[in-house]
Amino acid sequence: MPVDSILANGSVCSMSSTTPITIAITGASGACYALRLIQRLAQQQQPMHLILSDAARVVLTQEINLTLPEDIGDTSKAIANQLHIDEKQINTYGLHDWMAPPASGSAGIQRMVIIPCSMGTLARIANGISNTLIERAADVILKERRQLIVVPRETPLSAIHLEHMLKLARLGVHILPAMPGFYHRPQSLDDLVDFIVERVLDTLGIATNHALRWGSQ
Ligand SMILES: Cc1cc2nc3c(=O)[nH]c(=O)nc-3n(C[C@H](O)[C@H](O)[C@H](O)COP(=O)(O)O)c2cc1C
Repeated sequence: MPVDSILANGSVCSMSSTTPITIAITGASGACYALRLIQRLAQQQQPMHLILSDAARVVLTQEINLTLPEDIGDTSKAIANQLHIDEKQINTYGLHDWMAPPASGSAGIQRMVIIPCSMGTLARIANGISNTLIERAADVILKERRQLIVVPRETPLSAIHLEHMLKLARLGVHILPAMPGFYHRPQSLDDLVDFIVERVLDTLGIATNHALRWGSQ
């Protein structure tokens, strides 16, 4: 199914949903957002490249009680089992796997979502530091002027955090903070999580029937 999406440079690009999207999970609070996004993309038959920071694994254990295996090959399987999705939709790569497709612009990956995004990862990307595959993948997306969505989570925010977000926003990065609205009268935690995840899917240009659209009731 072709998908139209507006890229960071403002151009409209028609993409097949068979082109993998890179999903990075970092050590900010809100691991549930990442898992729900992966589940929703898998339901849309959307292949994904997945990268987790070391801190993301700690947060997954703390918040979801999900302790992932150290072996990267087994990580996709563990996440697929947790989410009841097909393991084949996810390719997980190690944090220092420089041979992985997201490490190079020539792989042609058009879209990346960092969800949730820690202030540490945000700072490193904003300053061009590419010590891990997450940071390198984001650096590649920026240099190629493709679509990067970050879902930062921290409160309160310091001037440093805000400056990094502004710097990235000026480069065309979508800053989509984990700040759910309450005007749709959420009844559950899942409603709040879906509020953010559906906004991410909308921004990716991926068709969704679940988006809560103001004025549609
Ligand atoms: C349970 C838990 C929750 C955390 N929540 C946040 C958060 O909301 N935002 C943030 O920037 N860092 C948070 N941190 C701290 C980051 O995990 C830490 O700065 C880490 O170095 C980030 O590394 P990464 O960017 O490579 O994932 C949290 C850590 C833990 C253990």
